[in-house]
Amino acid sequence: MDPKAVKSDLVLILDYGSQYTHLITRRIRSLNIFSLCISGTSSLETITSHNPKAVILSGGPHSVHSVNSPTFPSGFVEWAQKGGIFVLGICYGLQLIVQRLGGLVEVGEEQEYGRMEIEVAKNLGIFGNKKVGDKQVVWMSHGDEAVKLPDGFEVVARSEQGAVAAVENRDMRFFGLQYHPEVTHSPEGMDTLRYFLFDVCEVSAGWNMENILDEEIKVINDTVGPEEHVICALSGGVDSTVAATLVHKAIGDRLHCVFVDNGLLRYKERERVMETFESDLHLPVTCVDASNEFLDKLKGVVDPEMKRKVIGKEFISIFDAFAHELEKKLGTKPAYLVQGTLYPDVIESCPPPGSGRTCSHTIKSHHNVGGLPKDMKLKLIEPLKLLFKDEVRQLGRILNVPDAFLKRHPFPGPGLAVRVLGDVTEGNALDILRQVDEIFIQAIKDAGLYNSIWQAFAVFLPIRSVGVQGDQRTHSHVVALRAVTSHDGMTADWYYFEHKFLDDVARKICNSVRGVNRVVQDITSKPPSTIEWE
Ligand code: XMP
Repeated sequence: MDPKAVKSDLVLILDYGSQYTHLITRRIRSLNIFSLCISGTSSLETITSHNPKAVILSGGPHSVHSVNSPTFPSGFVEWAQKGGIFVLGICYGLQLIVQRLGGLVEVGEEQEYGRMEIEVAKNLGIFGNKKVGDKQVVWMSHGDEAVKLPDGFEVVARSEQGAVAAVENRDMRFFGLQYHPEVTHSPEGMDTLRYFLFDVCEVSAGWNMENILDEEIKVINDTVGPEEHVICALSGGVDSTVAATLVHKAIGDRLHCVFVDNGLLRYKERERVMETFESDLHLPVTCVDASNEFLDKLKGVVDPEMKRKVIGKEFISIFDAFAHELEKKLGTKPAYLVQGTLYPDVIESCPPPGSGRTCSHTIKSHHNVGGLPKDMKLKLIEPLKLLFKDEVRQLGRILNVPDAFLKRHPFPGPGLAVRVLGDVTEGNALDILRQVDEIFIQAIKDAGLYNSIWQAFAVFLPIRSVGVQGDQRTHSHVVALRAVTSHDGMTADWYYFEHKFLDDVARKICNSVRGVNRVVQDITSKPPSTIEWE
């Protein structure tokens, strides 16, 4: 998508490493305003090339006093002044503004963290819709404090302890909040952001999924020549499905999708996703059954990293073969590859100070089709690369992707290989796991819990223990049930099922799956565990 074609003014976020930076971007987009997030240390050229209407300097874990603390480039203030750009500093961003414009920031006597009451001192500028004396609860998280403001700035809100909570210089169009308006712990924060962007900055809003859809289709049509062909590997997940559906809408059957059955799919998964692709979405999909190839290569492999490598390599070779077959059939090489890369995968962000890494472009490569053979020379189409997951779901809804599909729990690329510990080809592990997983997931759905859980699945443990079933002593396998809640998969908590639910599921599994006589539940959070067992 060409960001310049989006029918909304842009609010550019300069990221100084706060854990809330992406949340600011998402909150602003929820106001139908286009927002992008780039590194806080980007060059002036990069910042100006985005042509924003307003710039937000994010919070961050740094102190403006430390050496090498990140900051905006020289010439930024002059550019903002000349171009009539509005600038809002949040937390560390406020302190940067104060320090860089000649004020003074000191280590606060009392560090202010957590919920706090602030009071509006001036109802001009950012608090123009409030009354002097209005109080509100906000979320503070900082150690430093602005003690002397730059010329022309004034305090417009203070905390109970009298510390600076908000400042502004309306003539310069520079504003600062010492708290985080973007978090839900600041209940009036969204109201402040909305008022600031619409009434103070007069930003125009045109970021909505209908516009994005039209824009994407236009860009794809302008990019792919009338005779050119495009390929896409469908994983059965939301991102590749929405990306393919979008490209299909633009170029029709010059899109060629492949779905690879790697033998590591869940119960009846191949039939179920193929049905959705063909009957609901009318996507041109070839299903390649490569389960024997994958399972042959996985024989004897027990190391989780090795499993991932073997699967990745085999996938590339199957994909390569598909592309060559297609070339023979079409008489021409496919020119493009569609990938469902999302914005969080490409976003520039500041790693924590002391990590030794600089602010850089990070890509979670293992979640994408990486390392395609060089001679393929496929150009990429990444129609979702400016979107967050919830936006992809909205887009999918407009494209009539069934809701049950859009709300599916995440499923890792290496499939059940990271849910069978040890050699996946040994015994009947994959089959047992499929049956157990199906019972567990169906029970979760029947209990109406599926959408409250981020991810649920069963794990096959390569150990046996003694049991007694039907008056007979057994020596069978142990399976584990894992269900977690999470926002982004980075951290997770285990889900609290009712005892009755667990009891029913465990009984059903032991009664109906041959080879299992013991069911345990995983009650670790992430960290210290990961979500998948591997
Ligand atoms: P972990 O296990 O690292 O997982 O706590 C975090 C989230 O990422 C998913 N995951 C993957 N997704 N390809 C994917 O598309 C993968 O190789 C992969 N490995 C883990 C995991 O299921 C969880 O949602």
